[in-house]
Amino acid sequence: MTHVATAHSVELVGAEPVFIDVDPATGNMDPAALEAGEGPLAVIMPVHYLGLPCDMDRILAVAQKKGAFVLEDCALAVDATWGDQKAGTLGLAGSFSFYPVKHMTSIEGGMVTTNDPALAHELRRRRAFGYNRALGERTRPGLYDVDILGMNYRMSEVEAAVGLAQLTHLDDFMADRSRNDAALRAILTRIDGLTLFPDTHGKATSSHYCINAVLPRDGSVSRDRVVDGLNARKIGSSVHYPGPVPLFTYYSQKYGYKAGQFPVAEWLADQTISLPVGPHLTRGDAERVGNAFQEAYSEASR
Ligand SMILES: Cc1ncc(COP(=O)(O)O)c(C=O)c1O
Repeated sequence: MTHVATAHSVELVGAEPVFIDVDPATGNMDPAALEAGEGPLAVIMPVHYLGLPCDMDRILAVAQKKGAFVLEDCALAVDATWGDQKAGTLGLAGSFSFYPVKHMTSIEGGMVTTNDPALAHELRRRRAFGYNRALGERTRPGLYDVDILGMNYRMSEVEAAVGLAQLTHLDDFMADRSRNDAALRAILTRIDGLTLFPDTHGKATSSHYCINAVLPRDGSVSRDRVVDGLNARKIGSSVHYPGPVPLFTYYSQKYGYKAGQFPVAEWLADQTISLPVGPHLTRGDAERVGNAFQEAYSEASR
């Protein structure tokens, strides 16, 4: 249960992604399924779903046992915490997204975090063609060697300027998200039959990307009708995510995955509705979203 980008990054380096189902309590990687996995494992990629960190203690234990690296997908988890550590500092590296709908934006692009200085150095070089010397490191202007294969993944100055300006607002954005999450959650928890993921779970504290309201598994409430009811009340919504990645055509055709193999992720893909809690909402707006959802839900249940 993730954006397809997580799996595509594996495909793009010529490796094979192996998918496991998610935990119905959180929507995060199911640690029991990870522990039960057999065979070699090079990298584990936990996705902190909607900003709630995965069970990193169990994931790191499997990684140690198997000799695997952990790369955290923190696209929705800026400022989320596991115990006293931030998401993106627990594995070998963490990747963050600064796409416009995220906690902060640089228009496009993102960030990699790591505590490994050698990896940081290599990433900086691969970001810019594999130059052995960055601009500031050259003894003579314009002179460099190239000793590894690199890409052009540089962030432009304009994007960086937007990102730095956004960073000065991040604490306020996060406080607004937390306030809106609490206001919306207070209304949604009163709705019978609706599943909500917690914003804290064990050592995990969410970064409140959005709230997923998950409709009953038996299909008794039509998602299309709820979304139509929200639209009629001028409330926007989304779906995170519209399919388990292995059941997207590219992956199911290539690897032969079939419907029924990922029951929890399939339930979420079919029955979840994402509701906004971002800083563009006031507390009153968040309550309006909750009340509209409650009305739309009750109309769709009839
Ligand atoms: C979990 C997850 N990983 C990765 C991405 C991709 O991020 P970007 O658009 O910055 O490449 C997204 C985008 O929404 C995401 O939700």
